[in-house]
This record gives sequence, C-alpha cells and structure tokens, in this order.
Amino acid sequence: MEIFSYLHLSFIFFIALFIFPHPWNHVNKQGFTVHAEFGSVLETKVSKPNIDLLTASPLHPLDPLTVTEINAVRAILSSYAPFSWTFPAIHSLSLDEPEKAQVLEWKIGDPLPRRKAQVIVLLSGQTHVLVVDLGLGLVTSHVSNPGSGYPLLTAEDISVALQVAQSNEEFQRSIMACGVEFSDLSCGTPSAGWFGPNEEGRRVVKVQCFSTQGTPNFYMRPIEGLTLTVDIDNREVVKITDTGRGIPVPNSLNTDYRYAAQEKAPEMEPINPISMEQPNGPSYRIEQGHIVKWANWEFHLKPDQRAGLIISRAMVRDSETGEPRSVMYKGFASELFVPYMDPDESWYFKSYMDEGEFGLGVTAISLVPLNDCPRYSYYIDGLFVSSDGSPYVRPNIICVFERYAGDISWRHSELNNFQITESRPKVTLVARMAASVGNYDYIFDWEFQTDGLIRVKVGLSGMLMVKGTPRENMYQVPRKNDMSGPLVSENVIGVVHDHFVTFHLDMDIDGTDNSFVEVNLVKEETYPGQSPRKSYLKAKRRAAKSEDEARIKLNIYDPSEFHLVNPSKMSRLGNPSGYKVIPGGNAASLLDLNDPPQIRGAFTNNQIWVTQYNSTEQWAGGLLVYQSKGEDTLDVWSKRNRDIENKDIVLWYTLGFHHIPCQEDFPVMPTVTSSFELKPVNFFESNPILRAKPNFETDLPVCWPAHA
Ligand SMILES: *[C@@H]1O[C@H](CO)[C@@H](O)[C@H](O)[C@H]1NC(C)=O
Repeated sequence: MEIFSYLHLSFIFFIALFIFPHPWNHVNKQGFTVHAEFGSVLETKVSKPNIDLLTASPLHPLDPLTVTEINAVRAILSSYAPFSWTFPAIHSLSLDEPEKAQVLEWKIGDPLPRRKAQVIVLLSGQTHVLVVDLGLGLVTSHVSNPGSGYPLLTAEDISVALQVAQSNEEFQRSIMACGVEFSDLSCGTPSAGWFGPNEEGRRVVKVQCFSTQGTPNFYMRPIEGLTLTVDIDNREVVKITDTGRGIPVPNSLNTDYRYAAQEKAPEMEPINPISMEQPNGPSYRIEQGHIVKWANWEFHLKPDQRAGLIISRAMVRDSETGEPRSVMYKGFASELFVPYMDPDESWYFKSYMDEGEFGLGVTAISLVPLNDCPRYSYYIDGLFVSSDGSPYVRPNIICVFERYAGDISWRHSELNNFQITESRPKVTLVARMAASVGNYDYIFDWEFQTDGLIRVKVGLSGMLMVKGTPRENMYQVPRKNDMSGPLVSENVIGVVHDHFVTFHLDMDIDGTDNSFVEVNLVKEETYPGQSPRKSYLKAKRRAAKSEDEARIKLNIYDPSEFHLVNPSKMSRLGNPSGYKVIPGGNAASLLDLNDPPQIRGAFTNNQIWVTQYNSTEQWAGGLLVYQSKGEDTLDVWSKRNRDIENKDIVLWYTLGFHHIPCQEDFPVMPTVTSSFELKPVNFFESNPILRAKPNFETDLPVCWPAHA
C-alpha cells in the first residue's frame, strides 16, 4: 500500500523492459508465461506441491483457474464479437466462485460445479466486467462501466505513464534543473485517488521520481515536489507541478539496506544459528495442491491476484466426536487504505487503496527461505494473468509452516500434596504471504491453534514514503509542529500516515445461518446496604437484528465481546455455539467523513461491521476502486440495513495503524505488527486440548555440534 506501489512496479517494469524484451508476453508452447525476473534462484531446497502447474486440473470448486482454463478464457474472449476488432487489456481474470450452496454441497468425488471466470477488461477507456462460462465456452454476462471506478492498474498502464512522463520536455527540464542524471532516474506511478470532477471521465495516474544514484534504496532520495498527472489512455500529461525548487535530493549515505553493503558488524553479540527441528517431519499435509490438513484443522488455501491469500472452508474437528465442523466459509484481506497526512500539491492525493489499485497477489514476491519462512515450510506458487490474458507463475508466494515459538498452550502446578506440574507446548500452523506494494511490505499471517483459535496478523516493513526538505536537523526547524512528520534523516521527512486493512470474514459457525451478539459489560451499582461493594460489572447480551445494530466503534470505556453464534446449535448446557472476534491493538481513521479519501475509504468508519451475505459484496472499497467515488463500499452496503439475525452473515474487521515515523524506520523499517483473533466461545463442550500430549525429553533427538 503505500506508497509506492507504483514505484515498485515501475522498477519491475524497467527491469522487464531492458533485460527481458517481452516479459509479459513470453509464452512457451504450452501457452505458459514464466517471469524469469521474479523467479529468484533459491539455493535452499523448498517443499513444493507435487503438481505440474502446466497440466494441473482443478480438483476443488474453489481451486484457482488453471493454465488450461486461463488459455480457454483468452480464446473465448478473442472470438467474442464486441472484442473482435481489438483484444481488450485484461486487468483481472480469476475464478468466478460457484454459488456458496453448490460449494457446500460438493464432496470429493462429485463433479465440479461449472467453472467460470470473472474478467475485468478495459477497452477504449471503458471498463467491462464479464463472466466467461468455461463449460459453455461463452461469455454469459457482460456489464459495461458498472461503477465510477476503474480496475487495478496493469504493468502496461504503468509503463505507458512513465513513457509519457519521460518524454515530456518540461519534465526533462525539471530533472536537469535538480541535477539528477537521467540514467539515475527511477519513477513511480502513485494512484491519483479521486478529488472531484476535474479528474473524472479519464484514467489518470501521478508520476513522481527518485534518484538511484549511489543506492538501490531510491525511496529515500525523492525529487520532491515534481508531480505529473498523466492520462493513461490518451497518453498525455494533463498537469505538471514543480513545487520543490530549493529542496535538495537527500543524500544516499546509509540508505543501502543490503547485507552485502554493510561495512560494519552490528554492535551486538552474535546470535548463533537457530532453527526449529522436526525430526519426524512436519505434521501438516497439503492435499490436491490446496487443502491444508493439520492437527484438528482443515481448510482450502489459494493465492489470489487481488487479495493475496484466501482461506476458505475452514473447519475444525469436534473435540468429542472428531467430526469436522464449519468455522469460516471464506476469509481474506478485502481492501487496504493508506492515507498520508500532508495537504501539499505533491502529497494530498496519497490515499492509496493498495489492493483494489495494485493488488496484493500481483505484488507478492517469492518468500526467502530460512528468513521469511522457517525450515520445513511448504511453498505455493501463484498463477496469475498478465494484461494480454496469458498466464504466468509467481513462485513461492505463500508458505505454510508449523510454529513452535516456545510458548505454553496451557499449564497448572500445585504445591500441595498433589505435587502437580502440568504444561503443554503451543504449536501452531501458519499460512503466510508478503506483498511488496512498492516501498511498503505487508506480511499477512493466518495462524491456526489446536484450541480452535485463528489469529490474523499483519506486519508492516519496507521503506517509508518520505518527503524531501531543505532542513537537515530539527534545530533548523522554527515551527516543529508545522511539519507533516518527523525528520528521519538529513533532508528526509517521514510523513505521518495510517494503514487500514479490512478483512472479509464470512464466518459460518456450524452452518450458514448465524447471529451477531454483542456482549456488553456494563457497570451496575449496588443499592444501599446490599454489599460492601459500590459497583460491579455485568455481561449483557444483545443480538443485532439489522446491519445498523452491528456497526461497532471500539471503546475501552464501553467494552464488549463480539460473538458470532449459531442460534440453532446449542451446547450440552444450552449455550449457542459461537466464535468471537477479539480486537488487538487498533487505530481508527480520524479524517473528516466528507474528505474524498475517507468517502472512498468509508469501510474504515467502523472497526466491525456485519452484513447479510451477498456473493457480490467481496471488496470493501468496491469492485472497481481506482478513482472511484466510493459509491460501492461496505458503508453503502451496510446502509441497506438488511436483517442479520439468524441469517447467512459476513463479519468485517478493520485492523488499523497510525504511523508517526521515527529515525529507527530509516533506511528500512523494523517490522511493526498488529493482529486480531477469532476464538471459540461455547463452541466446544470443554477445553478441546485437555488431552493434548506434553513434550518429553525422549521425543527429541539429542544432538550437539561436533565441536562443542
Ligand atoms: C447484492 O449486492 C449488490 C452489490 O452491492 C446489489 O446490487 C444487490 O442488490 C445485492 N443483492 C441483495 C439481494 O441484497
């Protein structure tokens, strides 16, 4: 999200342009594109699915489209009459998931429901959303311009914008005036957002540039204040502003973050190599490429060009009967909103929707074994589609691994005559993906525990989006509170910003029909003479009847638990089976509700929402986000105020961060993490891991380094 989604992509584009002549079109005989520039050579052996992506067939209704299917979609579109003159630019092509009821009915061995693709294309500046039925070999639905927004940018859009910018003479003069060589220039295409009628009716993108002289970390060397607004489809510069005269390009000193570039050892005692050992191998297995089975869990896992990683059909085994029970039909990051807090001409528009504008799967790069994921990880490739409709592989973008972090899953000891010391180690299963959306890196973890808990964690790392300034230190700043962020290095301001990640959590607790229950803790006062106590807390339950009653702003002085329960599935004791969402550290958007970025980001107006299930309401900022006016957001859907009691419902949770940068964030940010949990409440009859086995010394091999 952040920032430089564009930068990153532009950088990729440059590599692609100069090293690989036609990287997005390079299709071999099987019609399969391999992006060599992303397929970093892994020296460590990694576990991979034993399926050949070139020939694989779908095995589950939710499996992503295969190479054969993608090629079939492209063939169908090529002979589709409205596109017979010009093949449109493919901005998105992915599985159009079957109806939920069909997926729920399907069992292994059944024929798959009819396979369909949802395709979003752009032709002559018009957006078309199509459904291609692979069984019929036909386009079965075609809607033109269904909203104000446009689909996510393609690599071609970015390259066009950069070419247009770089051939602009005023731009060239500005670059020369600031003393940057053209060979040291790296430019990016920040999305333009939407700020009223002036930019409507055409696709525009901003172009801003950096100097790569002396560093690969060009993000720290902005050419401040030079901003071009480029009309992508008409290939013209709409506007150029240069407000940065007199602001130097910050120095490259100490900006390189590569290990090989460090000249000095860290000022600390070294940590010996460390790794978790699994002498009998991992305990999870991955069947048919996408079904993860581990301990008492089973779920479907797939990469997605837009969402990054999607978990579906998550089921946990009942601790008494061993039967799999439904917990979540589908969970994924639905949109990311990253507003920057600087109203200047070259900053005001920075209010990214990283998922709908750039895509989290498209920007996910191969994970680095032993560093991004531990040993014994299993890696999954992404199979995505480039703008000419051909498939390409992004290797190793998801890893699955078991984690033993030395934590305790439960314990108790007694000093009395029982002399008890019982303790159990906590081992969890993690599915991870990391997206490098330009300068920023987002690490997504879905962590499953044997006690039924799911923890969703987001880590932020990568580079700050910084602003150049003539000031070298704070002593030179007369009015310190006027700056849009702190100085993080000489001539470099780390601009204050927020990150919001909104998750779509289609919880199906023991079935589709669930209710949302707020369990509110309220202060009760005792009556005179009742008790030596003056006050105490009482938990009061209230089931939300409609979407209005399920918009929640978190408040620690009015605390509640938020349960999703199945009112027709009672425990032995008569409590409804449920899960609760447990917020962790969080932040709320404080922008004016009528500020254009906040209208588009209105899905962050509350931290929790519950909506009635509607298969088209997947993307919290809308299907078409780029330059959208915010008419298709979660906020708009929720205002329909549909019934949600004992209905198929979707929980939406927003994880937020306020980021006031500091010097430690330079030149690369140590990871900042926040999370939330989905935890069983009266789902199991009792502690589901009571009978879990402890670790014993003899379970593990005893081995010491030979030289010890
Ligand atoms: C489902 O969602 C779409 C998009 O928000 C909307 O147009 C449609 O009316 C909704 N259907 C129902 C039954 O609510």
